[in-house]
Amino acid sequence: MSSRSMPASQDLQSTLREDRVFPPPPEFAATANIKSLEEYETLYARSIADPESFWAEAASELHWFQKWTKVLDWQLPVAKWFVGGKINLSYNCVDRHALGDKAGKTALIWEAEPVANGKAEVRTLTYAQLHVEVQKFANVLKSLGIQKGDRVAIYMGMTPELAIALLACARIGAIHSVIFGGFAAHAIADRVNDSQCVAILTQDTSYRRGTEIQLKRTVDEALAQTPSVKNVVVLKRSGSAVQMKEGRDHWWHELVAKADATCPAEPLDSEDPLYILYTSGTTGTPKGLVHTTGGYAVGTYLTTKYVFDLSNPNHPNDVYWCTADIGWVTGHSYVVYGPLQNGATVLMYEGAPNYPDFDRFWQIIDDHKVSIFYTAPTAIRAFIKWGDHHVEKHGLDSLRLLGTVGEPINPESWMWYRDRVGQGRCPIVDTWWQTETGAILIAPIPGAVPTKPGSATRPFFGIQPEVVNKEGHPVEPGHGGLLVVRKPWPSMARTIYGDAERYKKTYWSDVEGCYFTGDGARCDADGYYWLMGRVDDVLNVSGHRLGTMEVESALVAHPKVAEAAVVGRPDDLKGQAIVAFVSLDLAHAAANTTPEALAALKDELKKWVAKEIGSLARPEDIRFTDTLPKTRSGKIMRRLLRELATNGEIKGDTTTLEDFQGLAKLRETEE
Ligand code: WTA
Repeated sequence: MSSRSMPASQDLQSTLREDRVFPPPPEFAATANIKSLEEYETLYARSIADPESFWAEAASELHWFQKWTKVLDWQLPVAKWFVGGKINLSYNCVDRHALGDKAGKTALIWEAEPVANGKAEVRTLTYAQLHVEVQKFANVLKSLGIQKGDRVAIYMGMTPELAIALLACARIGAIHSVIFGGFAAHAIADRVNDSQCVAILTQDTSYRRGTEIQLKRTVDEALAQTPSVKNVVVLKRSGSAVQMKEGRDHWWHELVAKADATCPAEPLDSEDPLYILYTSGTTGTPKGLVHTTGGYAVGTYLTTKYVFDLSNPNHPNDVYWCTADIGWVTGHSYVVYGPLQNGATVLMYEGAPNYPDFDRFWQIIDDHKVSIFYTAPTAIRAFIKWGDHHVEKHGLDSLRLLGTVGEPINPESWMWYRDRVGQGRCPIVDTWWQTETGAILIAPIPGAVPTKPGSATRPFFGIQPEVVNKEGHPVEPGHGGLLVVRKPWPSMARTIYGDAERYKKTYWSDVEGCYFTGDGARCDADGYYWLMGRVDDVLNVSGHRLGTMEVESALVAHPKVAEAAVVGRPDDLKGQAIVAFVSLDLAHAAANTTPEALAALKDELKKWVAKEIGSLARPEDIRFTDTLPKTRSGKIMRRLLRELATNGEIKGDTTTLEDFQGLAKLRETEE
């Protein structure tokens, strides 16, 4: 635990406004699934007193081919939920509705980014139509020899086919590994190789802010290093020219045209893997978190039902829009699996919020009568910066519930969201969770729990979070500490692909008997959780997780770089911005002394990182130094660098610092 820095209390003060409490708007609560605080507290108490019967009851709302024999088998850190049960998520998301009374209900509304003559392309699929498409594509996968347990990489833009691809994999028990469309070729190759994917699903290009992103071209680059891939399926999105390799690359539409429309969902074991999703940690390469079928189904189903108030008989016409890309866990759980299991109408938008104009999101909300809207604080901060008039141009009358995820939301942004977007009538659910947790763990139940701007409020049913000190003892209410979770929950990740040891070490070793989140938090006297950001070396840039190590590895791979240390500095828009301290290889250091040469080199290194990882990892700032400040044991003193990057000076204790000269130099090179 010694390497974890405890959150400083002064960081908190600016975000704490406990005097402001907003009860659920009465008109919302009147028709909500859970209508009062008392109802929440009674159900929560029951879920904690007997989690297994609570989760079993939730599970019985889903379709099982065969019921489980045991709810939980827990041998830390290995959890098995709904042991012996047979279930299929594709069935629960699609067939259950298509074969029931929701066949004609719209499952997906998709809006393309490009706008011509004031109009964008819109496609809708009813549950019955989605059923056909998912079965056809499942047959396409089978026709390529893809079987249960095979890993399938997906590198696509936000198209209906992406959702269909996930559901088709889930249908036959193939394990999908979605790679965010912003990652570069190396990052794709690393992920594909780690889990030995047999196929990649991609598209020719995707649209983003008016430009075409060359997805297939990037995949081609990655494919030079991925021998396990036997087949590539390419969706024609823009019609842009791409290279197709005979025998390996296939056009999506051609395979679908030949595919049979019947493919029954495979009864899968509760613990059969559903997907792998890579996420950044403190050390090494990104970790492939493995989620399995039964528990993940129950966790995503129930959290969506209660936190987003879906499956609500009073609101059969809800249109639900989560703006996350399916490349991240939020897209997995809250674009695809959670809302579709609830039989909701899900909106998917392909592109950027500010294309062609800054009011695109508000236009979409009005056009499609979106009632539930879930986005990230970084987006909200951008909306604020762009100006209220973009929001005020639109009625937004259809909205009834707003959500945020991905990073702490500052109270000012929260208030803006509530007043300007929600017009005071929509509850805000600030949802705290992680790739590892699979589903929301802390968030207000909107009709029941009063909200406080900046707090994710209270735990979801069955979840027992706790704030502890480095020794694992609970801290007093109001004191900062490390956020842990005491008991297993159904949607938790089961392991890191191919590295059970690392899973145990990363999550289950810091605080005995507990899952350690990596986040700092405090819990106030009312039992409200206030998240304070990571206490480890994981950065959160615009709500996206990045490991400092990943960016450092990319930098030192550059021939001119000797050493690199990467830290985050607070950023008004992105939450955190990446600052890299770089020492140059001696020969290059001597040759690059002029300001022009250094400026050019900074640019070169920024581009290099974007090329190695993806533009989301591009450093905001690069500072050159002769050496990096290190402890006597040789560890880079990131705390000092963080202070330097943030305040421009170092106030803390430097007595363990070995190389004062390095520190002095760092000061000199400051801009
Ligand atoms: C942060 C995204 C404060 C946190 C679902 C966590 C948050 C990490 C919140 C997980 C929130 C997410 N308030 N911080 N509401 N939601 N975080 O795996 O640091 O991409 O550990 O999952 O994001 O990021 P991940």
